[in-house]
Amino acid sequence: MKENEVILECRNLSKSFEGVQAVREVNLTIRKGSIVGLVGENGAGKSTLVKLIAGEYIRDNGEIIYKENKVFWKNPYEALKAGIGLVHQRPLLISELTGAENIFLGREFIKGFIVDNKKILEKSKQLLKKYPISIEFDLNKKVSDMTAAERQIVEIIKILSFNPEILILDEPTASLTERESKNLFSIIKKLNSSRQLTCIFISHELDEVFELCSEIVVLRNAKKVGNVEKVDFEKDKIIHLIINRDLSEFYPPKSTRKGKCILEINNLTSRTFHHINIKVHEGEIVGLYGLIGAGMSELAESIFGLRDYSEGTIIYNGEEMKNIQVNDMIDKGLYLIPGDRIKNGLFSKFSIGENITITHLNYLIPRFLINKHKENIISVKAAHEFGIVYSNINRNIFTLSGGNQQKVVVAKWLLKDSKLLIFDDPTVGIDIGTKREIYLMLRRLTKEGKGIIFISSEISEMIGIADRIYTMRNGKITEELIGDRINQRNILQNIL
Ligand SMILES: Nc1ncnc2c1ncn2[C@@H]1O[C@H](COP(=O)(O)OP(=O)(O)OP(=O)(O)O)[C@@H](O)[C@H]1O
Ligand SMILES: [Mg+2]
Repeated sequence: MKENEVILECRNLSKSFEGVQAVREVNLTIRKGSIVGLVGENGAGKSTLVKLIAGEYIRDNGEIIYKENKVFWKNPYEALKAGIGLVHQRPLLISELTGAENIFLGREFIKGFIVDNKKILEKSKQLLKKYPISIEFDLNKKVSDMTAAERQIVEIIKILSFNPEILILDEPTASLTERESKNLFSIIKKLNSSRQLTCIFISHELDEVFELCSEIVVLRNAKKVGNVEKVDFEKDKIIHLIINRDLSEFYPPKSTRKGKCILEINNLTSRTFHHINIKVHEGEIVGLYGLIGAGMSELAESIFGLRDYSEGTIIYNGEEMKNIQVNDMIDKGLYLIPGDRIKNGLFSKFSIGENITITHLNYLIPRFLINKHKENIISVKAAHEFGIVYSNINRNIFTLSGGNQQKVVVAKWLLKDSKLLIFDDPTVGIDIGTKREIYLMLRRLTKEGKGIIFISSEISEMIGIADRIYTMRNGKITEELIGDRINQRNILQNIL
């Protein structure tokens, strides 16, 4: 193929699910060797579009032209063999198998009639060496024991092992560390220059998209609304295309008054954090900010009863907590809402409705019988309140778009009466519009008098949302910032 030659074209591509139009008359031209960023709000249709391209869904209308031929993939494997490899937003792996077995699934090396696991492991290790996204990695571990990041890496390596001509990555970095993301980018850039690999890259992080991509396609509400070349990359412009409104009032106003102290932690110490003293009042958002590993998540887990501590006291709602159990804390109205939605937050076998109400099952199960009717009423109400877009509340949770899945995680806790909520990086992998909805929701909660502890990996989000920030370094609180003192410089000085 010559340079600038078109490798893939979509004409008038459409797809709907039970009345939800996920992709509407999309036209897309992808040149060989380009790296195209695909952006848009949660539910805009990004995953559906790439699944059509990769043979996972069958289109309702339109054409896909790949290397000058009109194609009708019967299944994803056909597309993969032809050179189109899709790395899913949620890795499609088999939990009971190891990473290596997953990579070579369906093409195991057979020795006699036995799968040669040693060879599979060896080959997988070679692949990891060739595509070093992470160095410390046990490919012999079962997928069920892997973190979201590790699963993502297994899936990326699996797809790369097919040497695709078009590599499609659907939010690959949402669960990866910064280091791993960087490694992935340099692998893509290398393949792009050495053998003109074409790439479609979906992400909500515009900085990443700017760094990696040669052009950006914007989807909004199932339609393509923009196609921006690198020379025109400008954050405000792209954001405007994504959400169709201005960014000036992105973060809601901060809290003006706070109530009584709801949580007081004195001298709390464990293996990972030391002599922690913090207070949280009703009606305020208290940020914990530090580098990854500085102890914020561990502290949150200890408050919630997921992790032990060796010294110190936790006074919650005027009562000293001893021998903290998660169930007790939930009963007392304190919840921790996890960030890693796939591993911690969602029960994948349940439907959307069941996932929302699952923390209520105690109240909904009369003698072990789930009251479907009652459950539906509660979950439909919650879905409405939190703006969760779904086609049928009884469908599996993973039919939702990624961002809507995250809203389910949040909604399921907010249905119960609570006093103190701990959010551990709740907006990872969420688009800018949904992020704002979550910020508004947090503010609504503080207005109702609830206290919030907010952990975030994004400094601008922390500055925008927190009323007060405790900075952390190496397991210790280093500073408390309020009002005007909340700015990037003060934060960085106290965490580095
Ligand atoms: N298998 C499915 N069944 C029913 N509805 C679906 C299915 N897949 C997607 N949808 C719906 O189609 C719309 C587009 O979803 P899609 O997953 O393509 O969005 P997305 O842009 O990838 O969002 P996100 O950024 O949250 O991942 C959403 O309203 C979603 O609920
Ligand atoms: Mg998606």
